[in-house]
Amino acid sequence: MADSRQQQSPRPVRLAEYTPPAHLVDTVQLRFELGEEWTTVSSRLTVRANPERIEAGPLVLDGRELELLEVAVDGRPLGEGEYALDAESLTIPEVPERFTLEVTTRIRPQENTALEGLYKSSGTFCTQCEPEGFRRITYFPDRSDVMARYTTTIVADAQRYPVLLSNGNRIGAGTLTDGRHWVQWEDPFPKPSYLFALVGGDLARVADSYTTMSGRQVALHIYVEHGNEDKVDHAMRSLKEAMAWDEATYGRECDLDVYQIVAVEDFNMGAMENKGLNIFNTSAILAKPETATDADFQRIEAIIGHEYFHNWSGNRVTLRDWFQLSLKEGFTVFREQHFSADRYSAPVQRIEDVRRLRTAQFPEDDGPTAHPVRPDSYIEISNFYTPTVYEKGAEVVRMMYHLLGPEDFRRGTDLFFASHDGRAVTTEDFVRALEEASDRDLSQFRLWYTQAGTPRLFVDAEHDPGAATYTLHVRQEVPETPGQAHKQPMHIPVAVGLLDRAGNALPLRMEGEEPGGTTRVLELREAEQSFTFTGVGEDPVPSLLRGFSAPVRLEHDHRDQDLAFLLAHDEDLFTRWEAGQELACRSLFRGVAAYQAGDEMRLDETLVEAFGGLLRGDAGDKALVAEALTQPDEGYLADLMDWPVDPEAIHQARRFTRARLAQALGDDFLYSYQANQEGGEYRPDPGAIARRRLKNLSLAYLVAGGVGEGIEAAREQVHTATNMTDRLGALRPMVAEDVPGTAESLEAFYTQWKDEPEVMDKWFAIQATSPHYGTLAGIRRLLEHPAFNFKNPNKVRAVLGAFARGNPYRFHAPDGEAYTFFADQVLRLDRINPQMAAALARAFSRFRRYDEARQRLMREQLERIRQDPQLSRDTFEIVTKSLG
Ligand code: ARG
Ligand code: ZN
Repeated sequence: MADSRQQQSPRPVRLAEYTPPAHLVDTVQLRFELGEEWTTVSSRLTVRANPERIEAGPLVLDGRELELLEVAVDGRPLGEGEYALDAESLTIPEVPERFTLEVTTRIRPQENTALEGLYKSSGTFCTQCEPEGFRRITYFPDRSDVMARYTTTIVADAQRYPVLLSNGNRIGAGTLTDGRHWVQWEDPFPKPSYLFALVGGDLARVADSYTTMSGRQVALHIYVEHGNEDKVDHAMRSLKEAMAWDEATYGRECDLDVYQIVAVEDFNMGAMENKGLNIFNTSAILAKPETATDADFQRIEAIIGHEYFHNWSGNRVTLRDWFQLSLKEGFTVFREQHFSADRYSAPVQRIEDVRRLRTAQFPEDDGPTAHPVRPDSYIEISNFYTPTVYEKGAEVVRMMYHLLGPEDFRRGTDLFFASHDGRAVTTEDFVRALEEASDRDLSQFRLWYTQAGTPRLFVDAEHDPGAATYTLHVRQEVPETPGQAHKQPMHIPVAVGLLDRAGNALPLRMEGEEPGGTTRVLELREAEQSFTFTGVGEDPVPSLLRGFSAPVRLEHDHRDQDLAFLLAHDEDLFTRWEAGQELACRSLFRGVAAYQAGDEMRLDETLVEAFGGLLRGDAGDKALVAEALTQPDEGYLADLMDWPVDPEAIHQARRFTRARLAQALGDDFLYSYQANQEGGEYRPDPGAIARRRLKNLSLAYLVAGGVGEGIEAAREQVHTATNMTDRLGALRPMVAEDVPGTAESLEAFYTQWKDEPEVMDKWFAIQATSPHYGTLAGIRRLLEHPAFNFKNPNKVRAVLGAFARGNPYRFHAPDGEAYTFFADQVLRLDRINPQMAAALARAFSRFRRYDEARQRLMREQLERIRQDPQLSRDTFEIVTKSLG
């Protein structure tokens, strides 16, 4: 059975064509018999015509790749002529107003490599139903506005599958005489089918509990493979932190008696918020100091929080249709980011959020797959779990948070939860609740949901010493995107401050107003607008877009000295970092120009002084210093570069700058490396994380600069390290530079960690992103390595994903051989896992940004993929949109 599109092109689904469901389902009783060859699924639904529809008409159920064994209405089995089946649906033309429907299907989870619906991961049965996986389990109105109460009975071999889980509470269990046992679960909360989950396997359980603010006890159960019990402490602690945070920050209490999390090895995404039974990628759960890095610890806490927060933003209040995806994802990412900011450092969190937005979302918004936060059409909804829906969606919520202020925003979310609890709603319902709770008019602001493209802001400043006024002239442009030629001006909050020549923040006062604080949010609504501050005697340095108050590309005419000044003095820590990054980018682009012209590259003195100042200054926040000293990555530089992108020049300029900075500041980096050493037990707390970050960043510079003491230190650290942060902190720069001893260290690392799949992912990724190990020949070797597995998404991401995204220099090698190779892998993967294949195919989507030769080579590969007669709908959509 090929999971492939039909001969003709698939038809897009459009928001404008939304109609309420013809039939509603009140209760669902499911019975699964899990078997080695096949699994039988029997369902019994109570169905009624939707009173909102004048005429319900035929019953149409979704279903894909199912073997239908039986279908009955009110107990009477239907004969051949009484229903119609096609590749995607089951239609029963004649049904009563109210009836029970019984359907029995047979599926083969052990052959399901797409990892949607019910599948097996290292011997464990598990599910992934969002967005449209439930239809691969049984025939059902598989849409989020059909909410029902589920009771689930699971029958399986008692020895192999002692643990049988589903949503809700366990209400019964027993054994059969044939060696099988059964467990029954009942979920008291009505839910859409995408939140259904089931697990069957031989797993270890780690248990704890949480007492909610009203004094209810919630049992917390985390299930992992035997042997991994020592890697769940951090996840469990994070879960309790998240529960407490949502009570304190949003007044949201957990509504469950038992909150279950299961970790599985093979998973397309990070995790899934199924009601009361989250299923997680092992990479988003398992951590102990020896195997996980600081970044892993932080990512796990964020994802645990994210899925927990969905229990309200997504589950209690759910989506009317998939166009509303950002209602739950944008809001929940915002909640997750806020949680992480409260747990660690708010400015550092902001920097990381912005970095991610810029490296992943800005390019998307500027390419052929650009779409609004609330898309208006799709071919395959799985392709819309994008940085735009998630990260830009979170930025949109953040702007409203700041426009309303924390109190009104909280009143708005309270109102939203109270008025839509138990319902399936839209982003419009969310915005309206925020408006009702405040006296803000968000009508123009709504364009953020419907207009794609990253707005550009152009700022000019004018100082009038005679009048002591300072005027900012701001102009906005929203670029054209596919299907949206003409844009309206957006409502953009621009937070600004002014610094006097001594670096002090000036109190801000606008014409006709009382003096205010030192940050002012300008609300830009027109295509062009001017804002005048009074009482500004001397020409100040403006600090623009503080805290990154809007997801825009900002252009201004700061001189290098102004940037260095802001980096040293601005009271807004985000803008300080931003100034440093911009300084670094300018210097890198001078290197790019020199490289392209065949001239000698030179290191900018301003940059050396600025970075040296950071290293030597006793800046309190080491994490912030580390962020500021981190070079912008090659992908981000490519995004900033005018056509045509030159991946080789970018790589060489970045490499040159890093090495020369390390040599110019060798003593400072060495000092910083030594001063930030610490003994004692590993702790993933903010202070210790920041010190390790700065220490290992310094080490990476020293290795890049070829500084002997640094290379020696890295070789030493890679085998004496007692935690993975430090071990990788040494190995990564060694592999990046291929210093003597690297091959041996890689081999030793493999021998030590080959039984830890999450550690092996790191081992693969540092090689795939190295200019030395991540050559085409190197990537081929990694794919043939015994630890590699094409069916495991984490491995595919660690090698192919990391290569395309993290190694542009080799991926875009001018002979185009990597393109051909990569397209081969996309096609091979498309048969196994269309979602993953489509994700990889995006590596070609911005081919028009490159020179004509590369364009032609990439286009050839896109055409070749498109011509595959069995291509999945997922990959088809990405490839056809890329070709435009
Ligand atoms: N809702 C999940 C989250 O928390 C993402 C699951 C999406 N799964 C998929 N196969 N597209 O973000
Ligand atoms: Zn989510």
